[in-house]
Amino acid sequence: MEKICVIGLGYIGLPTAIVFALKGKLQVVGVDTNPQVIELLHQGKIHIKEPGLQDACTKVLQAGSLSVSRRPVPADAFVIAVPTPLNNETKQANLSYVAKATESLLSVLKKGDLVVLESTVPPGTVAEVMLPILQRSGLDPYEDLWVVHSPERVIPGNILYELEHNSRIVGGIDKESALRGKELYSSFVKGDILVTDAKTAELTKLMENTFRDVNIALANELALICSELGVDAWEVRRLANYHPRVNFLSPGPGVGGHCIAIDPWFVIEGSPALARLIRTARMINGEMPERVCHYVDTLMPKVGKGNVAVLGVAYKPDVDDVRESPALRIIEMLSSRGYSVRAYDPYVKDPFEAQVGTLEEALTDMDLAIVVTDHTEFQSLTAEYIKSLACHPVILDTRHMLDAEQFRRAGIAVYTLGNGRQLQDKQIAYPEVAAGLEHI
Ligand SMILES: NC(=O)c1ccc[n+]([C@@H]2O[C@H](COP(=O)([O-])OP(=O)(O)OC[C@H]3O[C@@H](n4cnc5c(N)ncnc54)[C@H](O)[C@@H]3O)[C@@H](O)[C@H]2O)c1
Repeated sequence: MEKICVIGLGYIGLPTAIVFALKGKLQVVGVDTNPQVIELLHQGKIHIKEPGLQDACTKVLQAGSLSVSRRPVPADAFVIAVPTPLNNETKQANLSYVAKATESLLSVLKKGDLVVLESTVPPGTVAEVMLPILQRSGLDPYEDLWVVHSPERVIPGNILYELEHNSRIVGGIDKESALRGKELYSSFVKGDILVTDAKTAELTKLMENTFRDVNIALANELALICSELGVDAWEVRRLANYHPRVNFLSPGPGVGGHCIAIDPWFVIEGSPALARLIRTARMINGEMPERVCHYVDTLMPKVGKGNVAVLGVAYKPDVDDVRESPALRIIEMLSSRGYSVRAYDPYVKDPFEAQVGTLEEALTDMDLAIVVTDHTEFQSLTAEYIKSLACHPVILDTRHMLDAEQFRRAGIAVYTLGNGRQLQDKQIAYPEVAAGLEHI
């Protein structure tokens, strides 16, 4: 039976190792340098939250098809899924984990092995970072090994299903490598497996998230324009989407998560002079938390004074993930302006600034509440409930989730981000933004 070693047992590597063992019927060794991850797995427990993953892990550990180790062991294939964080100062990818993981293979690699990089990386990483390291094994990557990049597209929360059913790209350093990579993933992937070269695979993955970032930036720019022109961006979006070839995304308080807010930077890193639209989109989306704070300044009777409730801290609905979440910056900026901020999120348990434990606590005596995350729980907010907790409340809905008219009829002003009609005589003072990235 083919043996594979998965290097890095995080959100991507652990489910991948489990699925290779469970569905691919391969002998899998999961490797992680974090002793706590390994210790927990030795006890049969997983360290990440993902529906169905614990049960699947228990199954393969008990069957003996998955074992764990702190170091790579000899195998037929190695799959690397280590972090590739963004360096916030330089806005470049930190590839040190990829380099170290590749180095860790040198003592176990043998002729005929397959090396797969799953981590998201700037274009050229396989050729410029991995191949020179692999050469140090004494093997020629083109003659003696198969080397591919196969990026991951899964969404946390549905990883087990998507790993199996999504289509997957396999980009090789040559055609034979790509075909060998395809053969490995055919053990469990039911979607299409599309072969290409490594650099194309690297860029394709990045451009998928860049596409979303740029389109969200367009929607956000529309929202800003509408608040200046006194037009409702949501109505423009609704009407424009009747065009058979137009699909406007939704404006919002900015983008978060580990992909859309980060991957475009890797494209900019690869082609800094030409990636102008991509850079501008990053700037527009990165500035949205500040725009939301300008909205708040306009709606509050006195800038920097009063109670503000922030509803939702996660970067998207019904999850506990706060990575790169615009809410964190909104809380920080409002607090530093002088507002008294109370933030509530039903899912996020890790402590965050201004956190309170209940919705009631957040809303009591607030002057303004901002809906930042469209968690399902907030859909059931009613004017009566809010009025029972606060005297003259105003709501800023950055997600267009509340029925503003209904609240207005009940005596509560709801302002929807991007609906310039509601602003009437109020003019939001968006300060001039210098053409630079220092705001992000
Ligand atoms: N999380 C996602 O939804 C997602 C989606 C698509 C792509 N990706 C990409 O996949 C890659 C991995 O992301 P993640 O979310 O799984 O990261 P993660 O931080 O959850 O897990 C990475 C794991 O790698 C381990 N590690 C680091 N260096 C190691 C080494 N040298 N040897 C062995 N283990 C090592 C860490 O201890 C950690 O447990 C990143 O490039 C990310 O951008 C992630």
